[in-house]
Amino acid sequence: MKKKILITGGAGYIGSKLVTKLINLGHEVTVLDVLKFSSKPLNHLFGKKNFHFIKGDVRQKKIIEKLVKKNEFIIPLAALVGAPLCEKNKKEANEVNLYSINHLMKIIKKKNKKVIYLTTNSGYGVGAKNKYCDEKSPLNPISLYGRTKVQAEKIVMNYKNSIGFRLATVFGYSYRMRTDLLVNNFVYKSLHEKKLTLFEPHFRRNYIHIDDVVDAIIYSIKNFNILKSEVYNLGLSSANLTKYMLAKKIQKKLKFLKIRIVHNKKDPDQRDYYVSNKKIEKKGFKAQVLIENGIDELIKVFSYSDEKIINNY
Ligand SMILES: NC(=O)c1ccc[n+]([C@@H]2O[C@H](COP(=O)([O-])OP(=O)(O)OC[C@H]3O[C@@H](n4cnc5c(N)ncnc54)[C@H](O)[C@@H]3O)[C@@H](O)[C@H]2O)c1
Repeated sequence: MKKKILITGGAGYIGSKLVTKLINLGHEVTVLDVLKFSSKPLNHLFGKKNFHFIKGDVRQKKIIEKLVKKNEFIIPLAALVGAPLCEKNKKEANEVNLYSINHLMKIIKKKNKKVIYLTTNSGYGVGAKNKYCDEKSPLNPISLYGRTKVQAEKIVMNYKNSIGFRLATVFGYSYRMRTDLLVNNFVYKSLHEKKLTLFEPHFRRNYIHIDDVVDAIIYSIKNFNILKSEVYNLGLSSANLTKYMLAKKIQKKLKFLKIRIVHNKKDPDQRDYYVSNKKIEKKGFKAQVLIENGIDELIKVFSYSDEKIINNY
């Protein structure tokens, strides 16, 4: 069954890949995006009859009301993403990541629509002794980004027709490329600088390929009633890796890579945890793309394209 789907922030890293797949499946997709970065990630879609684009801001209440009414599913991806960007633009981060979600949810409840919301699992495990996290583990986000997303998730999950995904660190190519994400960043630096400097190399994180994120969202559209009213960790279960293990996997592909460990420096991102993805797996979705395949993909992308590094770890 073809669905009418509204995606805010659809020109971004996750959005542009998700929208492309939904359009190819024949769904009627509307994207609302202020185009903070570029419209290029959507260029290949402008000719499609089932694709509708509105350049606009999620803080514009009238536009949101009109668009919610017309669609069955709402996937609010628009956000200021990442701790550094939110620190630089605190007011905007609160407005976009939190207040606009609050307003959106009021309209969604009135109109009885379905919501799929993505947040980060980055608040898990910070300062905790027990490094094993499932959906019941406390979230203690330390950054403004983390706090706005956790609060917004609470608001979204107050409504029965919502599904929440807490994402592991995403990796892989997208039409809007992000080189600030850990795996993407490590592969980029390994190729271009031929060395990786690691601090707190034992920190363990969970990862997921962007195609698996897209497939999980499509799975949740198809199986909405089975999944609704719950939050799920979403990661690749074979990839709960320390930064050192990840660097060694990259070194296996790029033999010239030198790994240097620095002991007197702290990672600003204090995530260190083992994440369980059993809950979503029991409901029938399991991430598939191996980290090795993602590394192969990224090596090709960064070897042949002119992608630039955005952020350092
Ligand atoms: N990429 C990840 O690793 C990850 C992990 C967990 C959760 N998420 C969540 O997924 C969503 C998408 O993340 P992403 O990685 O694609 O980020 P992104 O920065 O690539 O995309 C965000 C998009 O939102 C748009 N946007 C920003 N402010 C807007 C506004 N006021 N009105 C309309 N559009 C606006 C931007 O133009 C951009 O296209 C975010 O909500 C993020 O918190 C991402």
